[in-house]
Formats: sequence, C-alpha cells, structure tokens
Amino acid sequence: MSFDLVFFGGTGDLTWRKLMPALFQAFRHGKLPAGGRILSVAREELSDEQYRAWLKERFQDVEGAKRPNDEEFARFAELLHYRRMDLSQPADYLRLKSWLQGRNAHTAVLYLATSPHLFPMICEQLGAAGLNAPHIRVVLEKPLGHDLASAQEINRVVRSVFSETQAFRIDHYLGKPSVQNLMALRFGNALFEPLWRRESIANIQITLAEGLGVGTRGEFYNRTGALRDMIQNHALQLLTMVAMEPPSSNDADAIRDEKLKVLRSLKPFTEDSVARDVVRGQYRPGSAAGQPAVGFLQEQDVPAGSRCETFVALRTEVQNWRWAGVPFYLRTGKRLASHEAQIVVNFRPTPHNIFPGVNQPNKLVIKLQPEDGLELHLLAAKGTNQQEALSPVSLDLDFDKAFAENRVGAYERLLLDALAGRLNLFVRSDEQEQAWRFVEPILQAWAKDSAGPRPYAAGTWGPAAASALVARDNFAWDEEQ
Ligand code: BG6
Repeated sequence: MSFDLVFFGGTGDLTWRKLMPALFQAFRHGKLPAGGRILSVAREELSDEQYRAWLKERFQDVEGAKRPNDEEFARFAELLHYRRMDLSQPADYLRLKSWLQGRNAHTAVLYLATSPHLFPMICEQLGAAGLNAPHIRVVLEKPLGHDLASAQEINRVVRSVFSETQAFRIDHYLGKPSVQNLMALRFGNALFEPLWRRESIANIQITLAEGLGVGTRGEFYNRTGALRDMIQNHALQLLTMVAMEPPSSNDADAIRDEKLKVLRSLKPFTEDSVARDVVRGQYRPGSAAGQPAVGFLQEQDVPAGSRCETFVALRTEVQNWRWAGVPFYLRTGKRLASHEAQIVVNFRPTPHNIFPGVNQPNKLVIKLQPEDGLELHLLAAKGTNQQEALSPVSLDLDFDKAFAENRVGAYERLLLDALAGRLNLFVRSDEQEQAWRFVEPILQAWAKDSAGPRPYAAGTWGPAAASALVARDNFAWDEEQ
C-alpha cells in the first residue's frame, strides 16, 4: 500500500519531538508500509537536504535507544521531503496537490500538527483545492477548541470538507499500550466482567501526574490550563474505557458509541457541585527530583498574577445501572510528587472478616506510566503460622517484559492506524463535544469565582483539598492508602 504522509507544522515541536521519532521506530521495526513518502510543510524556506540535516540534528535529543545511527537515518531520510507552504495561500495548496498527484498513492494522510486555531482555515483551503477525495484522511491533534462552541465550530468546518470516517482526532493516551490492555482485560477475558460494577467496586481513581513543570510552554499552558490540557481529553477518554459497556464488536463505531454513552451518563456539574467536587491548584516554589523548583508564576512566559490551574482533582459519577453511586475521582497536575499515570480500581472489602488484623480490600492497578503494567493486589497467608495476619501481595504483569519484542509507542501505533484507516483509537466529533459539555460548567464556575486556584508546593501531591475530596467519602488516594 503506497502512502503519502504530510505534516503541516513540519518544523514544529510536536513533529520533531514525537511524530518523527515515532515514525522512525515504525520504519526501524519494518512496520511502515513500503512505498511511502513523508512530506513536511512549514513556513521556512528549506530544501529536502536542509530539512533532513535539520531533523538529524533534532534527533540527537531523542532518547538513547530510540535514536537512529547514521546509516539508519540515511535510509529513513530517503522517505523525507520538505516544501515551503504559506497556509493562507490557495496557490500553495494547489502545489501540494500536484505533488501528491505526481504519484497517486493509495492513501494520503494529512497530519495537522499546527496550532489548532489554524485547523478551520487549513481544512477550508484543503477543500477548496480539492484535497478531500475519499483516499485522503486528516489527522487533528489536540487541543480541539478551547470550549464547546469553538470545538463545534472546528467540527463544523471539518465536516463540511471531510466525512467523519476521514477525520482522525487524536488523543495519544488512547494509543498507549496499557489502554489497549484495558480493552483486552475487560473484553478479552471473562474473569473481571461480573465484578466490574457497583456491587463489587468501591471507587475508581484516574491519576495523570507529572513531575515536570510547564517548562518552555508557559505561554500555551497559561492559555490552556490542566482542565483543558488533560481532563477534557486524556482523563475522560480513560474514564470511558473503564466504564463503557461491552461493545458489540471491535469496530470503531461500536466502541465509540459505547464511549459516548458513558460521557452522556456523567453527572453534570452545577455551580454548587463545582465548588464542592472540583479542586484546582497552582504550583508554588518547591522541589523537583531533589532540586529546588520555581513556582508556576516564575516560569518563562507566564504573566504575573496568572490564575491558570496546573492541578485539577474532581469527583464525578456515571449515572447508569452499572455504576450508580460509585465515585470516579480524576486527578492531574504538573510538578507533582511523582511521574505516574494509572487507573486504580478499588474493590469493596470482604463482607465478613475471619482473619485477625488487616482487612485490606483488593485493588487492580492499571499502570500507564512510567511503565506499562497491571497489578492485582490481594491478601495472602505467609503459611507459617495459623494465627498470623494476612499480608498484602500483588500479582504483577509487566507488559514490557511480557511482550518485549513487540512494544509499540502511542504515536507510532496511532500513526500506523491512521495510515491503515483504523479509527478505533481516534475520537469521534460527538464524543469530543460531549466531553466539552462536561467540563464547560467547571470553566464557567471558575470564571466567576474570585478565589482562584489553591497553592501547592512543587513536588507534592497538590492542594490538601484534593485529599479532603476523597476523604469525604471515607476513601483515600492510592498513595495515601
Ligand atoms: C499532552 C499535554 O497532551 O500530554 C502535555 O499537552 C502533557 O501537557 C502530555 O505533558 C503528557 O503526555 P505523556 O504521554 O507524556 O503522559
């Protein structure tokens, strides 16, 4: 299958930090379909050779084992091309069209790795140039919009040019191997399904914690904040995967229909429930990896007095028969105590305890970061003494060890899926809009609330109010258990 893959924003951070290294891995593993061309377009005037040299330089920053050696890069570079493009100029799209027509590949994937405010204009220009034939797909990188209205406007324009099956809205968390394994665990095994409900589960916690601060992205982050950057997309997508009903098939729409139902079942926020069930925070000076770290307000390009949140914790419920009354706690933040992303399913305690001492409920931990894995926490007897209390033990599955040969990173997986036309791991427009509908009352309530985000010291688990949110239900965050 021949393909053309075009990156708009070809010299941008996302392209060289994530997309090109992911493509290179696919190339190295022999997964990239043969007969492909990769074209980067951007404003700079560069020849193919200059672009290749520039990218080779950038690749020096790629993590050791994933970095190509000279010979590998030279082979990969044969696929790489570069064209200057002014995205507001119709003539430049016509030039792109003739480049694509020059070879008539089976598939053309146009990846919009630009600032999202350009998406409507790019899509309109693509449509006007006739670059929307059925074999053409468009990949839209998050964030898609900054609220419901802007997301709807982007979707309206995208839909006026491309059909829904040509639009690949990316949420790279869906490409993470552990998220795939969550589907496998739930729908490829019968073991957990009878337990996967309110009768057996006490609460579910989704934590997406980062140790890093906002770094050089202060300007972007200050406009965005943690709610839009992580909760509206990544955290809610994970929630849908945990809470969805079994789909009737592995088809994209069967899965996305079920995910949409979950989003529609989320308890809507009101001004009062935002005040009660949502905690926002902003990091102050503290420490990171044992070194002093500045606060958000001291970061580069962050304006004085910014009220942007770098931390959010919230409590929600999925209002249906399976989940009624089960709290779902979502939490994300920058400059937290550790870099970890995980979903913790806390089961209910045994109804009657015949063993002295511990009665620690079971929990299942789906780990997304820093490593992929599954841990099932049980109680076991050491076997030395009848009277001895039970001890907590865990069954650990390390996916990196179990499947060492075939590990595929999130962007690699999603790029290959976009080339193959598989939509399962991409977000449909109605899901995305429903996710905005869920977070919008929070944005509105915050805009009215003069209190602003609560401070927390860099290197901690966020404001104390986040612990109180969970303690109110007589639970605790995983690290406090
Ligand atoms: C991105 C956010 O979508 O996800 C970043 O914009 C965040 O702020 C990143 O750092 C986290 O992704 P990962 O895969 O490193 O957990």
